[in-house]
Amino acid sequence: MARITAGIGCSHIPVLGFAHDHGRTEEPAFKPAFEGFDWTRSWMREEARPDVVILVYNDHASAFDMKIIPTFAIGCGELFSPADEGFGPRPVPPVIGHPDLAWHIAQSLILDEFDMTIINEMAVDHGLTVPLTMMFGAVDAWPCKVIPLAVNVVTYPPPSGNRCWSLGEAIARAVESYDEDLNVQIWGTGGMSHQLQGPRAGLINREWDNRFLDGLVGEGQDLRNIPHIEYLRETGSEGIEMVMWLIMRGALGARTQVRHRHYHVPVSNTALGHIVLEPSPIASMAAASLESTQ
Ligand code: DHB
Ligand code: FE
Repeated sequence: MARITAGIGCSHIPVLGFAHDHGRTEEPAFKPAFEGFDWTRSWMREEARPDVVILVYNDHASAFDMKIIPTFAIGCGELFSPADEGFGPRPVPPVIGHPDLAWHIAQSLILDEFDMTIINEMAVDHGLTVPLTMMFGAVDAWPCKVIPLAVNVVTYPPPSGNRCWSLGEAIARAVESYDEDLNVQIWGTGGMSHQLQGPRAGLINREWDNRFLDGLVGEGQDLRNIPHIEYLRETGSEGIEMVMWLIMRGALGARTQVRHRHYHVPVSNTALGHIVLEPSPIASMAAASLESTQ
């Protein structure tokens, strides 16, 4: 049986991809941002070693534009190439999909009443490739398969946080009903607080971001009820990207524990957040399983 073993939250700030690709990660402007991923890179190599990552991200008018705006889309193709975002595609490996698991998840979600758009061919932009770089560094090939799961947070109306959390729960059911023994991670990307344009450009809200990170840990479900207007008011116009982290959180089940956490401001105009979570049995389940082994 496939199982979700960990969830990762991670910003996707494009300048970090640029700094990485141009050998500038040691510069003072970038070093503290990258250092916060050292723990995760060695955990990935030495302990976690996922077979597949379900990578929840948003496209920034690279694969989709005003002609088509899927709320939730799942990549079922064999391969996804890095998008050209104006300066040529990033010099990173192509993303290798897992069509069999992706189609299984698509079927399970659609029969579970989530109307996914199925995508067989698309380019993937910084929303997907920057988190891969932060987690795996410079590699000739990404060390796992990746199932892109794109969420519309660019054009109003994005999905609610509650809907995202429920989608995560449905993804967990889909993964658990896949026969092959696979170690699957789910990543929620984007955020944290940022506004890239207009009079409030540069808005960062450390306190709110850190409360959001706190809320991902343990049994609490308060985050699923944050209204869109609060993201907009408190975290800037692009802070809404954080609803994607709730898909990751919803997929981890009733309770989580934290393995690693990193917060750094600013990178570009944006707050950088990163968290590594694992599902954790709730106290009563842990006691019951202890009793059953005695
Ligand atoms: C920046 C952040 C984003 O999430 C994005 O999609 C584009 C730019 C930035 O901080 O520059
Ligand atoms: Fe973004």
